[in-house]
Amino acid sequence: MDHFTYIDGELSCQGVRLSEIAQEFGTPTYVYSRSTLEEHYRRLSAAFSELKPLICFSVKSCPNIHVLRVLVEAGAGLDVVSLGELQRARLANVPAERIVFAGVGKSEAEVRAALTGAGPDGNPEPIGMFNIESEPEYEAVGMVARALGRPARAALRVNPNVKAGGHDYIATGYDQTKFGVDLLHARTLLRKFNKEKFLPLTGVHIHIGSSILSPTPYVEAITSVLAMIDELAAEGVTIDTLDIGGGFGADYHTGDAPTPDEYARAIVPLLKDRVAKGLRIIIEPGRMIAASAGVLLLRIVYVKHNAQKKFIICDAGMNALIRPALYDAFHFIWPISVSPMHEPVRRTDSPDMPGLEPCDVVGPLCESGDFLAHDRKLPVVARGELLAVFTAGAYGMSMASRYNSHPMPAEVLVDGLKPRLIRRRENLADLVSHEVEVPSNRRAER
Ligand SMILES: Cc1ncc(COP(=O)(O)O)c(C=O)c1O
Repeated sequence: MDHFTYIDGELSCQGVRLSEIAQEFGTPTYVYSRSTLEEHYRRLSAAFSELKPLICFSVKSCPNIHVLRVLVEAGAGLDVVSLGELQRARLANVPAERIVFAGVGKSEAEVRAALTGAGPDGNPEPIGMFNIESEPEYEAVGMVARALGRPARAALRVNPNVKAGGHDYIATGYDQTKFGVDLLHARTLLRKFNKEKFLPLTGVHIHIGSSILSPTPYVEAITSVLAMIDELAAEGVTIDTLDIGGGFGADYHTGDAPTPDEYARAIVPLLKDRVAKGLRIIIEPGRMIAASAGVLLLRIVYVKHNAQKKFIICDAGMNALIRPALYDAFHFIWPISVSPMHEPVRRTDSPDMPGLEPCDVVGPLCESGDFLAHDRKLPVVARGELLAVFTAGAYGMSMASRYNSHPMPAEVLVDGLKPRLIRRRENLADLVSHEVEVPSNRRAER
């Protein structure tokens, strides 16, 4: 579900034409739909309502503070993994107790900032929970909490050895990854630190991967940690919070992902009795909420033919959207202005329409990996026309780079009927602004 639709052959977002956005803000530009963000949040929240979960949107998926504010206003908490994301969370005005902090390598400075609220707003409230990934990390976080005299809550990230996710790089819940601790070691740590004064380890966290297109791996992972929780309870070790992570899929092709109701139908029955007895549930979705809420708007620079292939060369490629190059990910790509017979009914890699031609959609960078699509059938397009890369709202701008010294794209949020610039396009001065100037006398010496 999203609010990007073709009306009379013109792609629009909530009724605003993408061609007008390109004219006003240029390209490459990420365009987000506020209504889509809100609706995904609402659907997920409704599907899991029996569990009364705290839904912490995963900042890494789409970190613009204006996007975060939309979700925070809808009731979301935020899941952060760095000091930078913590700063974004605070700027998004999320109540501190609705922040969870994950990641395998939290530094002392990050822990300190999370506990003291040393953010830009001077918010003194400590965050809601640390998701701890190892014993040394537990010790380090506990030491800071003790030194500051500020107790904090913590959950242990458990690795249940369930392999799930759309690509090896985003499968995080099996025993060959750096994430969490195995079930055996988890029991030891939970026993040891459950009743600590400054950092009681009373939560369990799992995040088994991303782009998980079936509820089954969740059922498997949750079932095994619940067995551990029950075993510990019998010994007097109390677990009051279960964070089941994120990972829910998005519709890169139409119909790819289960609906929130389908995930919930499998997961809620496992947990609802425990919630009635006081277990608190946290969910950390990113992709499911943000992916189809964003498109990347590009302009075609050239159309090039060689002996074997036709190339559509756009004004950005892997620098703006690395997912095809990094994960071999599929994104539906289509011109924003088409004849009625080419209005897409489904987003698919093999559209069945007359008059399409196979091509590679690529960027301008000097690298063969700089592609957005290989051998994709598209209507005939010309230099200067605009393309939309769909389902690009998650892990799009957040993974963009300045490779080949291309400035970062702009970001626009369509709010009602108004497109609002939420990140200005970088300029050439921005590109070199962090590079320390060599003093002129040193230059003369050389
Ligand atoms: C700890 C944690 N939680 C939540 C997420 C969000 O995952 P997704 O965007 O697949 O929902 C991630 C993403 O990798 C993560 O690392």
